[in-house]
Amino acid sequence: MVSKHIFLIGYMGCGKSFWGKAIADSLAYDFIDLDELIEKREGLSIPEIFEQSGETTFRERERLALESLSALKMPAVISTGGGTPCFQNNMDRMNAMGETLFLMASPAVLKQNILKSSSVRPIVQTIPENELEDYIANHLEERLPFYQQAHLSVNVDGLNLEDLKQLFR
Ligand code: S3P
Repeated sequence: MVSKHIFLIGYMGCGKSFWGKAIADSLAYDFIDLDELIEKREGLSIPEIFEQSGETTFRERERLALESLSALKMPAVISTGGGTPCFQNNMDRMNAMGETLFLMASPAVLKQNILKSSSVRPIVQTIPENELEDYIANHLEERLPFYQQAHLSVNVDGLNLEDLKQLFR
């Protein structure tokens, strides 16, 4: 079994928090949602940080929150934000701190999950619904070179916990 952090990475709506919690429960690890950690540290919601200080400041806070995880005594499962691996050398940082798992999903599935979710996501908030799938397809293409640096990748289509657990045996 791994004794380092496990980072879940992938585009918004791919299920990082859902699968992260499930893996953490099954391995008896702590679960940390990086966005929630940033919100706690800053005393502001993610949309508020974007609105008040802009994306560049958010990315800085995101890197600082990620770095703070190296001080944890116990390994944890961490769900990251969709953009975390794509800024500030974070992909190298996560690969050095633990195991990284990329959750792949199609633009159609990502769109459905984003629309179903109650989370406010500043990056896609202003994209009209009829343009969302194309936007995601293009944006995902830009982000793939970062996501593909993960140690492990799985397609979320038909994914089950038993398959995921096998990856960390
Ligand atoms: C972002 C994804 C969000 C959050 C922020 C920026 C992105 O996290 O970190 O709104 O750039 O893809 P989720 O992937 O959990 O929605």
